[in-house]
Amino acid sequence: MRWKDYFIPTSKNPPKDAETVSHKLMHRAGLIEKISSGIYTFLPLGLRVLRNVENIVREEMNKAKGIEVLMPSIQPASLWKESGRWEKMGKDMLRFKDRHGKEMVFGPTHEEVITYIVRQHIKSWKQLPLLFYQIQTKFRDEIRPRFGVIRAKEFLMKDAYSFDMDEKGLDISYQRMRETYFKIFSRCGINVTIQKADSGVMGGKFSEEFVAEGECKELEVGHIFKLGTTYSQNMKAYFVDKDGKEKPIYMGCYGIGIGRTVAAIIEGNYDENGIVWPVSVAPFKVIIVPVNMDDENIREKSESLYSELIEKKIDVLIDDREESPGVKFADADLIGIPLRITVGKKLKEGKVEIKIRKENRSVEVPLENSVRWILDFLNK
Ligand SMILES: Nc1ncnc2c1ncn2[C@@H]1O[C@H](COP(=O)(O)OP(=O)(O)O)[C@@H](O)[C@H]1O
Ligand SMILES: [Mg+2]
Repeated sequence: MRWKDYFIPTSKNPPKDAETVSHKLMHRAGLIEKISSGIYTFLPLGLRVLRNVENIVREEMNKAKGIEVLMPSIQPASLWKESGRWEKMGKDMLRFKDRHGKEMVFGPTHEEVITYIVRQHIKSWKQLPLLFYQIQTKFRDEIRPRFGVIRAKEFLMKDAYSFDMDEKGLDISYQRMRETYFKIFSRCGINVTIQKADSGVMGGKFSEEFVAEGECKELEVGHIFKLGTTYSQNMKAYFVDKDGKEKPIYMGCYGIGIGRTVAAIIEGNYDENGIVWPVSVAPFKVIIVPVNMDDENIREKSESLYSELIEKKIDVLIDDREESPGVKFADADLIGIPLRITVGKKLKEGKVEIKIRKENRSVEVPLENSVRWILDFLNK
């Protein structure tokens, strides 16, 4: 990507309502734009990180035998009345009527919809166990939206639902999700601890939260629940077991806030100059900075390095703006790209400077070895 063809609105000033590092930096690095209280747009750079996190989540969920679906965000009130949560949910749930006066909700979560789907199709023990997941928008009318995308009204969640024959099966599914969550957060560059938690309106007997350690306060990034048979009993999702007996299906549910995870990554990976993305989620892995766009040699060498990296399928950004090196360096640090390649005065000696954002140190590398060096760094 070429900076001039792209949209990275960096700024020096954090928003007035920003209380956390991640909120300040997400705004300053041009990742998000606030539209209204708790309602955010992910701008192009922010969206790239969001997609990288989603892909890590997808890969690990698929490895754990998760089956991806996409449920509607709009749900009929009738399902919530069946489950018994229509009254319990309170004001967090955004309710509305369609033009025919039918009561609807904008889904804060999807236990009701997935239980409906399973009850339509699952009749026998032979069809179990099952694990469904989706990555989809949720709406919760939070009383106090705060910290940017950390506590938003509209946000992206990975939610998963397991269906088993008995409690033992549920324990196995739950355990597998627990391990999967550790892998996901570790790949995203977040250290998490697990804590026993209150199940709240989800119900069920047991739940645990994944909490990111961070500069600021503890931040819940994931939450997993053993729901048991509450939903399947209330909504009549039964199956016939080996002995021909009808039994309610055992359920678990498992959530990760995708946007909140992006913020949590920043809370654990920044310095005084900006974000320090882990390579796994970085919006671009490499930024090339030609120090002077008027210098033909610098421009040419920068362009050919850019083409070579694209050929090697590296996500690379070239800062082709007519800005001073100082401005470009500050922006490269702010947006947190893991490697910055400076093409400048060392070119006389046939070298470029490579700055490792995380270690805050630079090395000089002969231009002809630079692609090899970058590939080695990114692969390790
Ligand atoms: N308002 C919100 N904004 C952003 N992410 C949220 C929000 N509420 C929940 N999440 C994310 O979704 C995950 C699952 O949510 P859940 O545990 O059902 O909600 P809560 O913890 O609010 O009761 C949370 O661990 C968190 O990562
Ligand atoms: Mg929770």
